[in-house]
Amino acid sequence: MTLPELTDYVSRHFARTYGRPPRWIAAAPGRVNVIGEHTDYNDGFVLPMAIERYAVMATDSAPSSSSISIRDTSEGVEPATIDLSLPVKPGKPKWSNYPRGVIAGCLARGINPGGLDVLLHSTVPLGGGLSSSAALEVCTATLLEAVTGKKMDPVEKALLCQQAEHEFAGVPCGIMDQFISVMGRENHLLLLDCRSRQTDLVPMNDPSVALLIINTNVKHELGSGEYAKRRAQCETAAKILRVPSLRDADPDALESAKNKMDNVVYRRARHVIGEIERTVHAAEGIRASNWPTVGQLMYASHASLRDDYEVSCAELDAVVEIAEGIGLKGGVYGCRMTGGGFGGCAVALVQAGTVEAVSKKIAVDYKTKTGIEAMIFSSRPAAGATILKG
Ligand code: GLA
Repeated sequence: MTLPELTDYVSRHFARTYGRPPRWIAAAPGRVNVIGEHTDYNDGFVLPMAIERYAVMATDSAPSSSSISIRDTSEGVEPATIDLSLPVKPGKPKWSNYPRGVIAGCLARGINPGGLDVLLHSTVPLGGGLSSSAALEVCTATLLEAVTGKKMDPVEKALLCQQAEHEFAGVPCGIMDQFISVMGRENHLLLLDCRSRQTDLVPMNDPSVALLIINTNVKHELGSGEYAKRRAQCETAAKILRVPSLRDADPDALESAKNKMDNVVYRRARHVIGEIERTVHAAEGIRASNWPTVGQLMYASHASLRDDYEVSCAELDAVVEIAEGIGLKGGVYGCRMTGGGFGGCAVALVQAGTVEAVSKKIAVDYKTKTGIEAMIFSSRPAAGATILKG
């Protein structure tokens, strides 16, 4: 659904649910990361884009209430009630911790919307590695901005949402997902320097190429501890290399310190150091429309995530192998897993004219190899969070 269609859909659904029209509507996109994986918490570079999939929230004041009630449009999702008269803490249902964390952060900054009736609808696949959680966090923050008329600085807003994820959802994520959901720009990728937080928009509007997003339909669960483990291994490597973070290390320094660290820590660092370099090169390749080079960097990124960082899985590897098999002759420049890993989505760079044929081939071969139905779609780079009404 496009944003105008979503606005219409949630407005009607809100009226059916609460018996009056909504006064404010906000939306925030999910994202796909083109390259630069597991580099954000190492002060490196990332190159994501916002996608045309959104968390959308419609609301109206509930003057006689001191709570924010949130209902989801999907049946069977337990509603959430967040009492503003008490300190806002993590609670149930589990999904409510994303809005809870953001509401707590907003209240701490004097952004208090009072009682609200909220309807939530999301078109970002859950647990698909497309930042459904960041979309929900950023949407909540944007909704509260709309209701209170208080606008946060975009960096502060993204950091508030990241903090919600750390403290309320227990995932020690980096800054990529929340930044791109806030700062995405239509027809652009965002080259984000996660150390200085400087952002550079990289135009991505060459009509001869398209990005395909292939959902393996294997759910990923970043809270399982593997993500935090990777972070800790990177910190160990940086300590041994005597640098503040792996951003400051280079391949030579790593090779000379190889015998001072165990092989797993060495391989984790090798991934991060190589991936930071690949990301910068990919941004240059995209600016020059050098698609074969960008594609090769994507394959190299995947191999490194699979072998050195060990965050891929059989299904993601299957998608990348199928894409590699189709190859340039069939219209595929490159393909890699995207997001935290352990399931979720892959992203492929393809010639625009081959989107249909490539999607079909991947779907069929993936089903044959894994027995699972993939979900495949393409998206142009979308704009970041926005107030749709109010
Ligand atoms: C998750 C995190 C991000 C980033 C990616 C891996 O999406 O939320 O901060 O670390 O994994 O690149």
